[in-house]
Amino acid sequence: MLERILPSCAAVVESRVDPPEAELYPQEAALVTRAVASRRREFTTVRHCARLAMSELGLPPGPVLPGRHGAPQWPGRTVGSLTHCAGFRGAALARDTDITMLGIDAEPHSPLRAGLLDAIALPREKLRLADHRVRHPEVCWDRLLFSAKESVYKAWNPRTGQRLGFEDADIVFAPDTMTFTARLLVPRPAAPAGTPPLPDRLDGRWLVGGGLVLTAIAVPAATV
Ligand SMILES: CC(C)(COP(=O)(O)OP(=O)(O)OC[C@H]1O[C@@H](n2cnc3c(N)ncnc32)[C@H](O)[C@@H]1OP(=O)(O)O)[C@@H](O)C(=O)NCCC(=O)NCCS
Repeated sequence: MLERILPSCAAVVESRVDPPEAELYPQEAALVTRAVASRRREFTTVRHCARLAMSELGLPPGPVLPGRHGAPQWPGRTVGSLTHCAGFRGAALARDTDITMLGIDAEPHSPLRAGLLDAIALPREKLRLADHRVRHPEVCWDRLLFSAKESVYKAWNPRTGQRLGFEDADIVFAPDTMTFTARLLVPRPAAPAGTPPLPDRLDGRWLVGGGLVLTAIAVPAATV
């Protein structure tokens, strides 16, 4: 499903089950020894997906360890993103010559718990969601907004080191094209020397299906 909302240069692997052959490297296993079983399963399967994605790009398998702020660290000159929720695990990986920022997120397609929308949405976002809800009542727009913001964070944070709050991005959905834009409302840090400038807007895609909401952001290397 994620393949439908990511460019073909990205290696995308997803799973709706936890395959028994999925294994962790010792340094990965050490991070979840005390975790509950469900956390160990999602952590293991998503890394299995990540290694299949590495192989698709012609890279040798290796551990995927959390770096600064928990962002997964990727081998060589690649960018990637991981997501998991009940019944879904997904990994996307690309060469940084094709994509410079990548974020994916999967959520169950169900309404957010009461009160959460107020915590994550700007007033103008809530107004726009109310309009979408009238025209497209079949979509859980609050969950979609949440997912889009998680994808923004996963694309933005590893590249910039910046932590973002939910009020730091203004998301506008285009229901007809199943796309969205995220305008960053924080001052952009300077891009490290020799790297492309940081965009002030991220473009993403979304889809709803199979009981899930999926969002993805992939910034092509050529456009930044
Ligand atoms: C980190 C966060 C984005 C993860 O999203 P989530 O929906 O809770 O969980 P998902 O299963 O989809 O994703 C989990 C994966 O995100 C990745 N991740 C964690 N921190 C990350 C970071 N700083 N940057 C990129 N990816 C990160 C990890 O790979 C993690 O999987 P792992 O623990 O097995 O390695 C979320 O927990 C969070 O902290 N959100 C607050 C920040 C935010 O979203 N602000 C809104 C900005 S507009």
